[in-house]
Amino acid sequence: MPLHGAPLAQRIGVPADDCIAFPAGEGNKNRIEWSRLTNVLLNRGLGRDAIVVAVGGGVTGDLAGFVAATYMRGIPYVQVPTTLLAMLDASIGGKTGVDTPAGKNLVGAFHHPELVLIDPDVLGTLPQREFRAGLAEALKHALIDSHAHLELIMSSAPALVDADRRALEPVLVRSLQVKQAIVQRDEREGGLRKMLNAGHTIGHAVEAVAEYGMLHGECVAIGLVVEARIAASLGAASPDFVDRVRRAAELLGLPVAIPESMQPEAILAATATDKKARAGAVEYALLSDVGQMLNSDAGFGTAVSDEVVLDALRASMR
Ligand SMILES: NC(=O)c1ccc[n+]([C@@H]2O[C@H](COP(=O)([O-])OP(=O)(O)OC[C@H]3O[C@@H](n4cnc5c(N)ncnc54)[C@H](O)[C@@H]3O)[C@@H](O)[C@H]2O)c1
Ligand SMILES: [Zn+2]
Repeated sequence: MPLHGAPLAQRIGVPADDCIAFPAGEGNKNRIEWSRLTNVLLNRGLGRDAIVVAVGGGVTGDLAGFVAATYMRGIPYVQVPTTLLAMLDASIGGKTGVDTPAGKNLVGAFHHPELVLIDPDVLGTLPQREFRAGLAEALKHALIDSHAHLELIMSSAPALVDADRRALEPVLVRSLQVKQAIVQRDEREGGLRKMLNAGHTIGHAVEAVAEYGMLHGECVAIGLVVEARIAASLGAASPDFVDRVRRAAELLGLPVAIPESMQPEAILAATATDKKARAGAVEYALLSDVGQMLNSDAGFGTAVSDEVVLDALRASMR
């Protein structure tokens, strides 16, 4: 809060006493913090005319958004994302929620912000590793979208890695357009929105095995590469596509290989706890090429045998 929350409050004329802070980190995106923050609002006697302004990364947006979604059956909120990941991904789409011991994001609500306020200047204080992790979601959007979008990212990769503002803005805008277009057509993840899970089945599993020692975006980068390999071994994608995904992630300074310390079997086992698992089958949102998803006529989900997944994981070990 001291970094960007307090100055923003001052600028928009909100008294410092109205600002509420909570400790940073995914570990605090839980029902205990949700309850504590909700109690603060209740103890202050706030009514349905209150508005929540969430200033922070995706953790803040998800948690404060969920507080707003449930407070008096829902009060409005504004997203002011301060990480790249939150700017181009988490702040739009209306998904709010918290983690539980049974898994991430398992309790939540769809609740759209009234406004999303993005000021890339705040990224100046963001650690470089966090910034690059955000680029993984930009890469995912480009791969889902089009060759032109991927070309935009590839051609500006060196500047993007250096967090160059001029290079970032068009990439940010393109990402927002892609995400917005998808969630507008499928708010509740009935089908189309599942495209956004590209790279995430393996990504979430790697993240779980790393016991959250790796950043989400880093795991998504690895997930995009492994899932491209899965698509290739199903005969749906070409080896050239796998290379392009890997090269693009590398250019963005992202990891593309599974750390040696991880067991492929453990990652495979972790895919089963992914909340996208339906009736015992883990579904992958697989890209077959840039701008093309497998099974687009059947909800974008592809079931993959354990052997194929293990082969792709083994081929992706450092
Ligand atoms: N709702 C959605 O659709 C959606 C989509 C993607 C991710 N998410 C969620 O977002 C979360 C991850 O978000 P994140 O990557 O932004 O992580 P985060 O919110 O944990 O922020 C990362 C770190 O950066 C710090 N920070 C934030 N802004 C900063 C700044 N400008 N300068 C310096 N430090 C800053 C934070 O305090 C934190 O320590 C996960 O919980 C994930 O589930 C939600
Ligand atoms: Zn993600």
